[in-house]
Amino acid sequence: MMNLSLWKFGLLLISLTEANVLHDFPKNFVVAKFNDAEPVTLTCGTNHDGEVKWMFQGFELEIEDNIQQVGQNLSVTYVEIPLLGEYSCWRGDEMLSSTHLLLEVEEKEELDSLITCLAKSYHCSFSCIFSNSEFTAVRVGLGHDCTEGGKLCHWISSGDQNRDGGFQFELSHSLSPYAEESTMLELTAEAIVDLNVHRTTRRFYLRDIVQPDSPQIGTCQELDLDLNVTIDPPSSWSTPHSFFGLEHEIEYVFKDDGKIGRSLSSLVPKSISKLRVRSRDSLVLSTWSEWTPWKNVRTGEENLCKCRNTVKYCCPELPLGLLDRCKKKRKNKNKNKDNAHAHRTLTGYGRSPAAVLFPGAAADMEEAPPSHVKCERVSGP
Ligand SMILES: *[C@@H]1O[C@H](CO)[C@@H](O)[C@H](O)[C@H]1NC(C)=O
Ligand SMILES: *[C@@H]1O[C@H](CO)[C@@H](O)[C@H](O)[C@H]1NC(C)=O
Repeated sequence: MMNLSLWKFGLLLISLTEANVLHDFPKNFVVAKFNDAEPVTLTCGTNHDGEVKWMFQGFELEIEDNIQQVGQNLSVTYVEIPLLGEYSCWRGDEMLSSTHLLLEVEEKEELDSLITCLAKSYHCSFSCIFSNSEFTAVRVGLGHDCTEGGKLCHWISSGDQNRDGGFQFELSHSLSPYAEESTMLELTAEAIVDLNVHRTTRRFYLRDIVQPDSPQIGTCQELDLDLNVTIDPPSSWSTPHSFFGLEHEIEYVFKDDGKIGRSLSSLVPKSISKLRVRSRDSLVLSTWSEWTPWKNVRTGEENLCKCRNTVKYCCPELPLGLLDRCKKKRKNKNKNKDNAHAHRTLTGYGRSPAAVLFPGAAADMEEAPPSHVKCERVSGP
């Protein structure tokens, strides 16, 4: 009980000291276990022999039972919260080095539950999102060196925090996308809150974290009874697509009653007003992608000119030259619109006839080009 309240008091003190908020991992730091009899050693990091002096948080250090200077080193036992912070090593007026003494936090579950890793394909890289606003610095690393906390680990540090207080990382791996995956990835994450270090290691197969981007809806071809929807894999997905197969699910809304249906084949009923699609790896049954935005469906001869807007509308393959003819038609309508406008101001009608014929004409946009995903391998240290 006594220990616990001391602990809380210390936490309070520390969180009140803005100087102790670490927004990055310090260059030098030592992580101690709470109240451990085994000493931790802080080294001065100078090549010159001779006397040095240690300071703590900018003040002269009081040598006590549990803080001993051994040569140039500082040896600390029974580390408790008031002992955490920045220790600096001096020769005269020259600061030789600075080392943070931090505390290891044992509960790894908390950190574990905050990390979500996703791969958009089997190539190059994946990303991990860290959702929490409590931690002020986070870093992650792949491989056994990082699990062991070794100096060879290639850490990737959090840049700035996301708007929601989380962190995001891009990690490169060197697994071959074509080989059957037999090695697990080993991801180690470290996070700092106040002067406490949380640490966790997670092992998983790349295939377990695959989630493709949303696919692209191509055409909606009208057959006798159905619509045949062509769906293209997202540009970020692994190639060749014959090897990295995706399966798609189409969700659609019936025109007459607004009911919703789903199809795992490319065929959907004709009598629908709109549809959207999602994909997943068909071999490992990965997580589904996000749904695409809804697309309105055009069937019959019903105003195919709308199909200029391939973002909003899913259309059959258009007869050659149709879009040109639509342009001409539009010009004519616009002429009529000008006339109608003149008419309206004369007669005081509320709505222009052209606006009724061409609702949303101004909002039509051309399709955005697909964004290309680049693979850049980050080399280790
Ligand atoms: C200081 O610490 C370093 C690293 O732990 C160790 O190699 C060295 O022997 C220590 N020096 C003394 C005087 O204890
Ligand atoms: C649907 O379209 C795809 C691609 O154009 C084609 O390969 C497939 O045979 C079509 N399905 C039917 C039932 O017509």
